[in-house]
Amino acid sequence: MHLKPIIAANWKMNHGPTDARAFLQRFLAQAPRQHDRTLVFFPSALTFSAVMESVRERPDIWVGVQNVYSEAQGAYTGENSVLMARDAGARVALIGHSERRHVFGETDAATTKKCALVSQARLVPMLCVGETLAEREAGATAAVVERQLTAGIAELEDPSVATMMLAYEPVWAIGTGRTATPDDASDIHGVLRRALAARIGEKAAAGVPILYGGSVNRGNAATLLAAPEVDGLLVGGASLDPDAWSSIVRS
Ligand code: 13P
Repeated sequence: MHLKPIIAANWKMNHGPTDARAFLQRFLAQAPRQHDRTLVFFPSALTFSAVMESVRERPDIWVGVQNVYSEAQGAYTGENSVLMARDAGARVALIGHSERRHVFGETDAATTKKCALVSQARLVPMLCVGETLAEREAGATAAVVERQLTAGIAELEDPSVATMMLAYEPVWAIGTGRTATPDDASDIHGVLRRALAARIGEKAAAGVPILYGGSVNRGNAATLLAAPEVDGLLVGGASLDPDAWSSIVRS
């Protein structure tokens, strides 16, 4: 089981195996075993086994994949299978990250299939939701994240919904240096929590970690983490530097 808060690093298409080993050597030396939080790394698929090896002695650290294909295996050149992710030691899979949706055209329907496959493979889906700037300015934020959540959990059994994770990442905050205010994050996390409660009940919904992501850095991490309804952080750019990452982990 995870411990809250969950502090997750999404390395995106950065850090090959050589850089990852050097990063972890430096980071692990500064960050002793955590007893009150779970750390997660999402390295690229090519770096996955180097990270697994480096964190072998650290049960407080989970390793996950950034994406899986919407079929379990077969003739899909270039894709990664959730079954292989499990075999390689992954415990969690990011689904529907904003870059998957907006750079690669991933649809809500694809996130439905992917979350179902991930949960059948007994990995934890970490479903990412978030509105674009235009959607925000149109006052559609709550409707967008609810629609994305509804799609992500459409084919999950209730117990799988209760053990999944969510990440709210406003698209306009990713990699831009603009973050949601802690109040904004709390509001939208509250929208997600109520939508979960409508499906699985309040008690179960309270146990689902909802992470915030979007330009988190060592200066704002503690404030965001202290906001009501924020159960963790999903960090891109600032997770690439072992020193910045260590200070975020200590938030
Ligand atoms: P940044 O922290 O670089 O804004 O990226 C956030 C993100 O997309 C994490 O998944």
